[in-house]
Amino acid sequence: MHTHTHASTMGPIQEAHAAAVRRSGEERCLHKSSLAVVDLGVSSTLILQLKQRPVIRITCKMIPALGNTSVRMRDPQRVEETLRCMQKAGLNTLQVISDFDMTLTRFARNGKRCPTSHNILEISKMISSECKEKLKDLLDKYYPIEIDSSKTIEEKLPLMVEWWTRAHALIMQQKIRKDQLTLAVQESDAMLREGYQEFFDCLNQHSVPLLIFSAGLGDVLEEVVRQAGVFHPNVKVISNFMDFDETGVMTSFKGELIHIYNKREGALLNTGHFEELRSRPNVLLLGDSLGDLTMADGVQEVEKVLKIGFLNDKVDERLPSYLNSYDIVLLKDETMEVPNAILDFLVAD
Ligand code: TMP
Ligand code: MG
Repeated sequence: MHTHTHASTMGPIQEAHAAAVRRSGEERCLHKSSLAVVDLGVSSTLILQLKQRPVIRITCKMIPALGNTSVRMRDPQRVEETLRCMQKAGLNTLQVISDFDMTLTRFARNGKRCPTSHNILEISKMISSECKEKLKDLLDKYYPIEIDSSKTIEEKLPLMVEWWTRAHALIMQQKIRKDQLTLAVQESDAMLREGYQEFFDCLNQHSVPLLIFSAGLGDVLEEVVRQAGVFHPNVKVISNFMDFDETGVMTSFKGELIHIYNKREGALLNTGHFEELRSRPNVLLLGDSLGDLTMADGVQEVEKVLKIGFLNDKVDERLPSYLNSYDIVLLKDETMEVPNAILDFLVAD
């Protein structure tokens, strides 16, 4: 049995993945043991005998973007099955839950880092130079811990709480004015990922709810989304929102602090939102941190969850843990091409 003669009967995701693997010269990773079971999604299961270096001349017809070199999947077959189930169930059973910073926004542009919602405030005129320095020191101390793959989440958690608590205490002293946030965002280099318009518009057009679930600053991120012209009625934000006094000056943060590792608790505090979406048990989840994986924990009677993870930094070290926890991992991919292609697939009936 020759793999190439049967390749065209592989599912679209497997085709794309095989194409990507082939392109990136990783064929040897494809089961050197030479036996792979590929579910054809039809009546039978075909056992493909893969030789040492399989020649799989195929192209993905249905989701070409999954063949991009930035795409990695631990289990392409599971991705395919999940997507087929989601497509069959229809868009009225779908909800999208996405992190904001470094997931909906770009990580870098022309080699220069793009700001998070905290950074937008940090570099704005609203913050004193002394406070800027202190926030920068915190970033320099804690960001390397955030992305340190040698530490467990349990080890990082108290340090992340420390980072958020210290940063928010500094921000609260700055007498930030609500009406200055618009200018701060306008003057920043904040950028949503390329293809964001299509992503937001497609979800809105098909009335699919988009929950932006962020440990960043809610007021700032909402302004970014508003200025990009995509704050559609289907968008809801759970984040850290500022409390202002009657003169419009910030006094504190509202409610419970959301940091990078308590999104599960944050989700469980918002049962009302998830209750409203009870008829939507299928979830497309987008994140860039391992803490984002629990964002769907509040979803009621959940059926299928497809997790897409942007791996932006320290890619080699962190790839194994991302592959273990995200269904699709996007390596240094600054675009929404893959989520958009998945939406296109789900929209097509
Ligand atoms: P996210 O949940 O929308 O991704 O927001 C969390 C990000 O915010 C996380 O990657 C670290 C970043 N951050 C800063 O850039 N500066 C800060 O002061 C704090 C507390 C977090
Ligand atoms: Mg993030």
